[in-house]
This record gives sequence, structure tokens and C-alpha cells, in this order.
Amino acid sequence: MNADWLGLEGKTCVVMGAGRGIGEAIAAGLHAAGGRVAVVDHDLELAEGAAGRIGDGALALRCDISNEDDVARTAREIEAALGACDVLVNNAMFFAPASLLETNFGDWNRNLAINLTGYYISSMAFGRQMMAKGGGAIVHTGSLASEFPQGSGVDYTASKAGIAGLSRQIAIEWGPDGIRSNTVHPGLTRTPRFEIRYQDPVALAAREKMTALNRVGQPIDIANAAVFLASARASYITGIDFIVDGGLRCKLFDLVPQVDVRKQ
Ligand SMILES: NC(=O)c1ccc[n+]([C@@H]2O[C@H](COP(=O)([O-])OP(=O)(O)OC[C@H]3O[C@@H](n4cnc5c(N)ncnc54)[C@H](O)[C@@H]3O)[C@@H](O)[C@H]2O)c1
Repeated sequence: MNADWLGLEGKTCVVMGAGRGIGEAIAAGLHAAGGRVAVVDHDLELAEGAAGRIGDGALALRCDISNEDDVARTAREIEAALGACDVLVNNAMFFAPASLLETNFGDWNRNLAINLTGYYISSMAFGRQMMAKGGGAIVHTGSLASEFPQGSGVDYTASKAGIAGLSRQIAIEWGPDGIRSNTVHPGLTRTPRFEIRYQDPVALAAREKMTALNRVGQPIDIANAAVFLASARASYITGIDFIVDGGLRCKLFDLVPQVDVRKQ
């Protein structure tokens, strides 16, 4: 097989929100495929830690995805250091669990500013570089929550549904410029941010049972899908919602409490 089967060798890859968890795994995957990777996070310590683990030329940068000036400066720095962007992954997240009646405007606005407006700001800054270069690929991290709301995730649900719409908008507007845009929707994924959900073996088993594969996802499971969508192997795929949930969605009906209807 061609060593550069994914066509990512030497490509400039930017991952926003790459300091840990799923973002770090995506940055590591792009790096392993030969990409020149910028590991960007609003927390520089996290970005440097991740870049150190990824190794060999991974560039750590501090940037708040919700701040237009910050993103513009970061885009210029990356272009100067690694070349114009070929692959952008928008993965940053703000999460303040609350129901409709519990949430407040501050959290709502902060959530949308990072999870949705931030993805727009970042897509605009790096998309312009792609346009000048003649093409590229954008992958956004959505969530199964975009389709299936949780009682405690009102602003998160809304922002993630918005990301899927933004991605499709980019796909139709920039497709003629050779830019593809897709959303990866992770299901239950064991990351440092949500580790507390998995420490109790009973809770872990209950979550595993929710999936067809009977296991909770790992960051690498999501990263594999994101790297594929970023790669030349996904050359005719744009505007899609790519669900990576170990079969959680298709388990839904199987989880409904049943009675034995054969005896009726
Ligand atoms: N873990 C899951 O079960 C799960 C499920 C569905 C979707 N997701 C999505 O996957 C992505 C990664 O989640 P994770 O579990 O690794 O959580 P995480 O919180 O560790 O990842 C988010 C990263 O974004 C960074 N970040 C936060 N605000 C930022 C800002 N303003 N600018 C730049 N960077 C910022 C954080 O420092 C962190 O490194 C998120 O978009 C999340 O919504 C996760």
C-alpha cells in the first residue's frame, strides 16, 4: 500500500481545542499520517503537553476560538510557521450542564460563543487560506446530543445542532472552491473531561450496555473517523453527519422496556 494512502503527508493541519481528549487524539492521528500539525488550545499548558506527547515538530499555540483577533493572529502564525492550512478541525468545547429553567444567559452566550460562533470564526480564517491554496478539508466535532437532547444540556444541544448546520452551509458555499466540510458526531467517549462518568463500575457497565459494541468509545475511535474525513480518501464526501457511537443510536428501540407479546 502507498505509504501516503491518506494523502496527508506534508499537509498543514490545524486542530482547535487539541490540548487533551478527542482533539489531542485527532492531532496525533493527523501527525501520524504525515501532517504538519498545529496543536491549538486556549490553555497553552494543555497545548504544550499534547504537542510534547505527539512529538516531532507538532506546534503548540494558545488561542481562544471565540476571539476573532486571536484566531486571525493564530492563523497568520501558523501560515508563517507551517504553510497555509489544508486541514482544519474545530473541536473546542464549553460545557455547563443545565436544563432550560436552570440555564442562564451568561452560560448560554459563552456556550454559543465557543461551540458555534468560534467554529464560524475559525472556519472563516482558515477557510480563506484554503481558498487561496485551491482547496482543503474542514472537520467539525459535533455530538450525538445534536439529535438527542439531554435534560441537562440545553445550550450544548443547541450549539451542536448549529455546528451541523454551519458545516453543511460551508459545504455548499465552498464546495466549488475545493473545500469539503463534514461533522463527526461522537457518542459516549471516555476522555479526561468526562472521566468522572466512568469511574463507578456500575455506571460504566450501564453506559457500555447502551451501545451495540458493548463498549464506551475511546478518543482514538473518534480520531480515526476525523482523520479519514480530512484525508484524500474522503474526496467525494462533504456536508455529511458522520456518527461514531459504537451503535448507540441503533440500540435505542432495544432499550425500550419490553413485555412478551407472544403470550397475548
Ligand atoms: N467525550 C464525549 O463523550 C463527547 C461526546 C460527544 C461530543 N464530544 C465533543 O468532542 C469534543 C472534545 O471533547 P472532550 O471530551 O475531549 O472534552 P475537552 O473539554 O477535553 O475538549 C475540549 C478542548 O477544547 C479546549 N477549549 C475550550 N475552550 C476553548 C476555547 N475558547 N478556545 C480554544 N480551545 C478551547 C479545552 O481546553 C479542551 O482541550 C468537544 O467538541 C465535545 O463536545 C465529546
